[in-house]
Amino acid sequence: MDIDRMVALFVRIGAPVLDSMIARGGGDFIGEFGAPLQARVIAETLGAPELAGKIPAWVDALSSGPLEPPERQEILGAALASLRFELERVIDASRETSSDNLSGALDQRNADSGLCRAATLSFLGLWLVAAWETTIQLLANLVIAWSACPEACEASAGDVAGRARLVEEVLRLTPAVHAIDRIATENVSLFGETIPENAIVLAFIAAANSDDEIFPHPRRFDPNRDHSALLSFGQGAHYCLGAKLATLQAAALAGMLAERSVRIGLRDEPLPWRWTLSLRTLPRLDIAFSRA
Ligand code: HEM
Repeated sequence: MDIDRMVALFVRIGAPVLDSMIARGGGDFIGEFGAPLQARVIAETLGAPELAGKIPAWVDALSSGPLEPPERQEILGAALASLRFELERVIDASRETSSDNLSGALDQRNADSGLCRAATLSFLGLWLVAAWETTIQLLANLVIAWSACPEACEASAGDVAGRARLVEEVLRLTPAVHAIDRIATENVSLFGETIPENAIVLAFIAAANSDDEIFPHPRRFDPNRDHSALLSFGQGAHYCLGAKLATLQAAALAGMLAERSVRIGLRDEPLPWRWTLSLRTLPRLDIAFSRA
């Protein structure tokens, strides 16, 4: 996957959308910018730009709530069937033409390691869900931070290193994935407590990112602080595979906002946050743009 090409695409498609929103004085940032752009970026990583229009409904069906009522099962069944059909088509086409995209490359690698097609399909399903709300919400959280601290955001967004620090501070203070779960494979002693074998542990990334021994004055928005202990993309073997792509997309958005010298206001107060065990997201983000 060529990350630079993905980011260039993000800017090429995103710039006119942003300009149109600015010209209209604002709009729903998630519905008009975040979601359509992310659908296109994910489709591009799969090697199938034509699937962008289908991605929102697939992700919605795969990630929403329990399998009740029965209509939900039908929606999920139909989404899985359509997703499987399209991914099989993309994988076959990529392998025939030896295209350099995730779907074909992963399937080839899996086949070489003796893994079946189901392994590729299951990973690509995870890819869609993992890349969707997380990145859309990071972009939205950057916009929210910009509305609250425009001077600090503009000052950071002037160069590559500053944009990276700005995105890390947004990820620290408002991590879209605020908790991850684990199962203890053996008894573990931690700070005088024992976590028994087989216990389910919910590790709060958001709390760790606000630990004042690691991040002094943790509630202060300070892009210039040291982010080396940031946990927003997880850690270790399961460290986020999309961290670089998502970070560069958000940095590109920061660059676009700085170039346009805009002020951002939030039209929805309080914001309509949705919480799940692991995610904190917004269904929409109504914003107003004005010239700085
Ligand atoms: C701001 C955006 C994102 C955030 C905050 C985020 C966060 C995370 C976190 C915390 C994990 C670790 C989960 C765990 O340890 O249980 C993870 C894993 C993962 N992420 Fe992301 N993610 C983001 C964007 C993306 C994108 C854009 C992609 C793909 C293009 C992606 C693909 C994945 C995958 C495949 C895993 C599983 C890795 C594994 O289990 O080995 N993520 N992500």
